[in-house]
Amino acid sequence: MYNIAIDGPAGAGKSTIAKKVAKELSFVYVDTGAMFRSMALFMLRNEISLEDVDAVAKACEEINITISYIDGEQQVILNGENVSGLIRTEQVGNAASKIAVYAPVRTKLLELQRELASKENVIMDGRDIGTAVLPNAQTKIYLTASSKERARRRVEQLALAGTSADFDEVEADIIKRDEQDMNREIAPLRQAEDATLIDSSDMGIDEVVAAIIDCYRKNQ
Ligand code: DC
Repeated sequence: MYNIAIDGPAGAGKSTIAKKVAKELSFVYVDTGAMFRSMALFMLRNEISLEDVDAVAKACEEINITISYIDGEQQVILNGENVSGLIRTEQVGNAASKIAVYAPVRTKLLELQRELASKENVIMDGRDIGTAVLPNAQTKIYLTASSKERARRRVEQLALAGTSADFDEVEADIIKRDEQDMNREIAPLRQAEDATLIDSSDMGIDEVVAAIIDCYRKNQ
């Protein structure tokens, strides 16, 4: 199987880009953040303290996560319920980042992620795909953008959805999440040694997609 790994900080455009690359190459897009978000949703719903590693570990034993696809769109099934429409909030994203520091949470998802990549040609995005989940991925990309540009895109996205947001607050949230994801002990966000760095601050979506497909062709 051919595996493309895309890592990078929150808001760098990984999922938008990965979906387009998947379509062009007829690969399956695997969004690992959605898996962490679904586990976080379980914790929030059951009022499990995100600071309590033992409680989170215990809850992990009650969680079953699977993936399915509807019209090529990944769906995350949490204990039999499709929660894909419930995990895109800031609250769930922040909770996901908090519980992602714990070994039982990561172990739970690692096997599922590797299994998916062993069965299909995948483009998988997350924080530790090139470094920990798929160290043998044939193409590895580290996609980033400045925190200002990521905040600008996020504010624009929210405005399109009819919500106004304060730029400084959005940027502060982004920086906090970067710190949390980059400074944890297990599988922190960092660029794999053999990953290609793409800074999309001054690039359009199609330009980034083309750059990744170019890397893929060179590594074929
Ligand atoms: O990409 P996202 O915003 O949906 O991810 C939510 C959080 O999940 C992210 O802040 C950290 C965690 N995560 C992770 O630790 N490892 C991954 N491979 C993907 C996400």
